[in-house]
Amino acid sequence: MKTQVGVLMALLWIQICWIRVEMQVEQSPRVLILQEGRNSSLTCNTSVAMAGVQWFQQNPGGRLIFLFYIASGVEQKGRLEATVSTKERYSHLYIRDSQPGDSATFFCTVEAQCP
Ligand SMILES: *[C@@H]1O[C@H](CO)[C@@H](O)[C@H](O)[C@H]1NC(C)=O
Ligand SMILES: *[C@@H]1O[C@H](CO)[C@@H](O)[C@H](O)[C@H]1NC(C)=O
Repeated sequence: MKTQVGVLMALLWIQICWIRVEMQVEQSPRVLILQEGRNSSLTCNTSVAMAGVQWFQQNPGGRLIFLFYIASGVEQKGRLEATVSTKERYSHLYIRDSQPGDSATFFCTVEAQCP
C-alpha cells in the first residue's frame, strides 16, 4: 500500500514539474555546411537545466533517425558523438569526417530538470 502511494505522488510531482517548466531551446548554427572530410559540431542550449537530450537526424527523404539519448558525459555512434553538460545547459553533436551522405537536418529535444 505504501509503495502505491509513493508512485502516485511521484507521478503527480512530475506532472506539476512539467507544467511549471517554461523552457527555451536554441540550436546553433541553424544551417551548417558540411565539408567532406571535415569535423563539424552543433550545439543545443536551453534556458533551464537539462535532465537529458535526444538528438535526431532527419534525412532529405523525411525519414527520422534517432541518434542519441544522453543524460551525462559522452556517447558515440560511428562518426557521431554527443556530449551533454546538464549544469551548463548545453549539448554538442559532433560529426567527424563528414561524408556527402550526412546531409540532413539534425535536431535536439530536451528534457527539463525539475527546478
Ligand atoms: C576530426 O576529429 C578527429 C577526432 O576527434 C581527429 O582525429 C581528426 O584529426 C579531426 N579531423 C579534422 C579534419 O580536423
Ligand atoms: C544559448 O547560448 C547563447 C550564447 O551563450 C545565449 O545567448 C542564449 O541566450 C542561450 N539560449 C537559451 C535558450 O538559453
